[in-house]
Amino acid sequence: MSSFEGRISFVTGAGSGIGQAMALGLAAEGATVVCSDINAQTAQATAARVEELGANAVANALDTADEDAVKEALTKTQRDLGRLDVLMNNAGVAGRDWNATTEINLSGVYYGLLYACPIMAAQGKGAVVNIASVAGLGALMRPGGYADHPAVLEGVSSYVASKHGVVGLTKQYAIAFGEKGVRVNAICPGYIDTPIIAERLAQSNGRAFLTDLHPIGRLGQPEEVAAVAIFLASDAASFVTGIAMPVDGGYTAR
Ligand SMILES: NC(=O)c1ccc[n+]([C@@H]2O[C@H](COP(=O)([O-])OP(=O)(O)OC[C@H]3O[C@@H](n4cnc5c(N)ncnc54)[C@H](O)[C@@H]3O)[C@@H](O)[C@H]2O)c1
Repeated sequence: MSSFEGRISFVTGAGSGIGQAMALGLAAEGATVVCSDINAQTAQATAARVEELGANAVANALDTADEDAVKEALTKTQRDLGRLDVLMNNAGVAGRDWNATTEINLSGVYYGLLYACPIMAAQGKGAVVNIASVAGLGALMRPGGYADHPAVLEGVSSYVASKHGVVGLTKQYAIAFGEKGVRVNAICPGYIDTPIIAERLAQSNGRAFLTDLHPIGRLGQPEEVAAVAIFLASDAASFVTGIAMPVDGGYTAR
């Protein structure tokens, strides 16, 4: 029997990149997957791929920055499917202004915790994995710096602040719900080859600069983040909570 057989999982930002890899990885382990994304079409496409793997899927159009909508989506999942075992709090953006970035990357993750953890606590068990970033552990770098590029600096500052916030929320919620059987962990990926960094990669020397930040000598793949997220959500990680784990090809080891 697969380790997630009968478990109900909810993945935000499941239409692309890391979220899509998480949805497919959970499906391969036998979980039912609610594939949620602000983009209804890509949510639907991931749900179809989950079903092709023989797992149950629900497509869900959700803006994680909308508190009422997050509450409704998580409550409805528990109501319709009977449980909520796993939340992958993954949706995120980069290169946006302060308000958009913090509303999606930080408030969105908070709303997920706010409404999922009590549902899981009532069950006596559950696991949340928040996707932070190496930008949740330190500042980001750019050739030539940021001082002459205020718009870029706004995007980067809001990203770094929001991801540091995700690491803080992870620790606070792990402590708040630890005795209720709910584990909360974060992953801090290095640069992963997904659409969110496409613009950076397209800049001259963009790929070479980003690649060189990783001692392992390459960018990561979404499946390499999903594998660790699925481990953290599994019973194999039953004594792991409150951590912010780099999955970064050695980026933070330098
Ligand atoms: N790719 C990287 O280098 C990298 C590194 C560190 C952390 N991350 C984080 O990983 C997470 C996933 O990013 P990715 O690399 O898969 O990028 P991606 O752009 O491929 O996927 C992000 C998904 O989130 C969705 N989304 C955006 N705003 C949303 C909202 N308000 N509500 C719901 N869904 C929304 C998008 O539609 C998209 O499907 C993000 O939180 C990102 O910050 C990515």
